[in-house]
Amino acid sequence: MKNRFLDLGMQPIANNFLKEIPENEFKFHLTVSYDDETSLVSLDDFVPPELMFNENYVYHSSMSKTMRDHFLSGANHLKNILNPKSVLEIGSNDGVFIKNFDPATTVAVEPCGNFADLTNEMGYQTYCNFWTKDIVEKIVQTGKKDLIFSANCICHIQDLDDAFSTVEKVLSTGGAFVFEDPSLYRMIKRGSYDQLYDEHAHVFSVIALSNVLRRSNMEIFRVESLDVHGGSNRIFACRIGERPIDESVSYHISMEKEAGLDRLETYVNFGKQIETSKKQLTNLLKELKRKGSKIISYGATSKSTTVFNYCGINSSTIDYIVDTTPSKQNKFSPGVHIPVIAPEDTTIADADYAFLGAWNFESEISEKESEFLKRGRFITHVPFVRIIEPEE
Ligand code: TMP
Repeated sequence: MKNRFLDLGMQPIANNFLKEIPENEFKFHLTVSYDDETSLVSLDDFVPPELMFNENYVYHSSMSKTMRDHFLSGANHLKNILNPKSVLEIGSNDGVFIKNFDPATTVAVEPCGNFADLTNEMGYQTYCNFWTKDIVEKIVQTGKKDLIFSANCICHIQDLDDAFSTVEKVLSTGGAFVFEDPSLYRMIKRGSYDQLYDEHAHVFSVIALSNVLRRSNMEIFRVESLDVHGGSNRIFACRIGERPIDESVSYHISMEKEAGLDRLETYVNFGKQIETSKKQLTNLLKELKRKGSKIISYGATSKSTTVFNYCGINSSTIDYIVDTTPSKQNKFSPGVHIPVIAPEDTTIADADYAFLGAWNFESEISEKESEFLKRGRFITHVPFVRIIEPEE
């Protein structure tokens, strides 16, 4: 049974940065439930995928050094431990991961036309498609795959049984399905409710994934914790019985059980904690504004779309959002319509405070913004609402 534990109100498409403010912007009611049969945490209402993933998709994985480094070291690590002869990536974005593999033995599937064109031009055969059972034949014609990789994409897929059974059909005997997505454990520990937005149809625990993968004859044989995206897990799965199970699997499952991820009560408490976080953030910003402070936001992230729309924060509080992604710049943020500008078009050192929309890149950003930090301060809501002091 599904148990609703969080209501984040009406939300827009999190990555739909607007050239002009429309009269009627698409919005949906973002509520979140815990399924006590599988322990899966999912949105109650899924947004049609075509509205989110199309040729206008703006998120470039290569945009930060942190992510470029992460995918380079991840690719080398997987080559070392799995030594795959053939590779498939599901959701290849701008090619930041597959560019580390030989185009002759690597194919990709990517529903956003702009990115599929890009990786085709880079020499990687890329099918512009969603990952559904309709793609099986096309892929199998290019041979079954030793490594099927996916980063920050499987959690976007609404029908997980369809996705996992499709993987199972395409995987070679003994092959590995490796995917990384934000970790539910870290979300709950950090109070980072902003992991919840339209694209994230689910936020995964290892417990829930074990249950759901089993329905497609697959099991988890290794789990690695990653720091990216505010805390992720890299899950290694295979057909049941094809590989030895590493002790990292039971380690993660015990840790999750200790944190109560298999109990509704944990989620109900999380819901209450988030309501408090909203009050604290809006009160802090109100107080700073009352004192005449200039507040901006750093990183036009999909996460900040959730925070701003849930907390009702708009351009009367935040003057503008600064972001390095060209396709987000000179546009308005989804729902609350805060202008997004390029760092080179402003002097953020003028601002007193900057809300860290991209809190997951805090160290990269703090290093870059030492000038701002001589006087200004970052504000965050993770793991609790506060002004970040320099000695932290
Ligand atoms: P993400 O948290 O969803 O990965 O998005 C990070 C966003 O933050 C992305 O739009 C790029 C932006 N960003 C900056 O504007 N400046 C930076 O220094 C970093 C690291 C990210």
